[in-house]
Amino acid sequence: MKARTRNWAAVVSIASTTTALLAGCGQTQSGNTANGSAAIAPKQNTVSTNVVAPTHLVNYSNASGSIVWAESFTTGPVAKQLVAAFEKKYPKIKVTMQVQPSSTDTNRADLTATISGGSSTPDVYMGDVIWPAQFAHAQLAAPLSDYLPKSFWNRFSNGLVQGATYNGKVYAAPLFADTAFLYYRKDLLQKYHLPVPTTWEQVKSEAATIVKKGGAKYGFVWQGADYEGLTCDFDEYLADAGGSVLTNGKASLNTPAANKALSFMRSLITSGVTPKTVDTFQEPQSENVFTQGQAVFLRNWSYAWSDSQNPTSSKVVGKVGVTALPTFAGHGSSGYSTVGGWDLYLNPHTKDLAAALQFIDWMTSPQAQEILAANSEMPTIKAVANSPTLKKYSPVFALLPKVKFVSRPSQTPQYPSVSKAIYDNVNEALAGSVSVSTALKNANSQINSAQSGSGSGGL
Ligand code: GLC
Repeated sequence: MKARTRNWAAVVSIASTTTALLAGCGQTQSGNTANGSAAIAPKQNTVSTNVVAPTHLVNYSNASGSIVWAESFTTGPVAKQLVAAFEKKYPKIKVTMQVQPSSTDTNRADLTATISGGSSTPDVYMGDVIWPAQFAHAQLAAPLSDYLPKSFWNRFSNGLVQGATYNGKVYAAPLFADTAFLYYRKDLLQKYHLPVPTTWEQVKSEAATIVKKGGAKYGFVWQGADYEGLTCDFDEYLADAGGSVLTNGKASLNTPAANKALSFMRSLITSGVTPKTVDTFQEPQSENVFTQGQAVFLRNWSYAWSDSQNPTSSKVVGKVGVTALPTFAGHGSSGYSTVGGWDLYLNPHTKDLAAALQFIDWMTSPQAQEILAANSEMPTIKAVANSPTLKKYSPVFALLPKVKFVSRPSQTPQYPSVSKAIYDNVNEALAGSVSVSTALKNANSQINSAQSGSGSGGL
């Protein structure tokens, strides 16, 4: 398979003065997006999609039946709330929930095995925004645009739809967007008279000060395990340092920017600001350390706000502040967040197509998207994302205009191997088993092999 050098429109604002949710995949750099093509901020009414006409339009308005929905929420009661509201509105359709692993990679491996084995369930599944190319290519997802009317896609911004498109067809309906933020202990910053940091250097020094003075056990926790989440964290430091994973379609990690990014990550560990065990932390472990009151700072996605305020599981309710991710000193006033998020995919072997489509339609309706927003998950439909009442649900929504975004190069079916080349090598450098420069050199050549199809293949 030849390397993809195409630039993808990576970003789209859901146009509003207050809200700029981005989505899509690719390598771009313009406006406030990293790595390649132009940031698009269309006015709500001018958004249009280039979705092809459906070939097998399904009328699901009177659907009945029973479907299984594989859900991957790592947080709270939101999945149950959604299903209860759906079944109330559509009593002729029963939805059984199937809880998936919280790691996106394990989740993907599980769904790949199940669906490629021909199973008709789950009928509908949540899948990462980085999966459309791979899942479409491997026929693990049905082209939703074959069944849904073209008008269906107008509820989303154009970029979100593009991010879910492969070879002209749309394979997933955007469910919620994920943006990363810096969570901090506002009580501790106050106590030690320290400002909310805007640079990574400040995060490190403030964390060190507070730990030294006995304010917290750990300074800063994040995702350093050998998995997709580490690619997200690394890409943010890399974009902050002025670099990108690919330049003109080729790996560009043999660069001073990549060296700066990874050296900084490693220094967080060697300086004692971040615990050594961070090289095994995914989102739940890092979040747990923070909500148990053991860390000053946490890098995590938008839902971590809700979790930090949940009195049954968090010891830091009322003590948490949230801000845009910082950047390196001299690189602006805030940093990059990886574009994350989850979509709804349709199993090509489903036996209940009409009920599945009704479910997907409702999950991207204002009612469902308000439920998501109330759980600090970022809505994907313009009607809710642009709503002036959004900010009442979570402080993260008001921060969006400050955030810069970097997309992962996931518009290729080889993306899992590209990402693995990053997270395997970065993880080894974090553990101290290879030097920063060796890790980057290895990642660079493995990314190029993965892109040319000569790597270890999809996962
Ligand atoms: C979040 C993001 C997803 C990303 C994952 C990495 O779930 O939404 O896009 O791949 O984290 O752990």
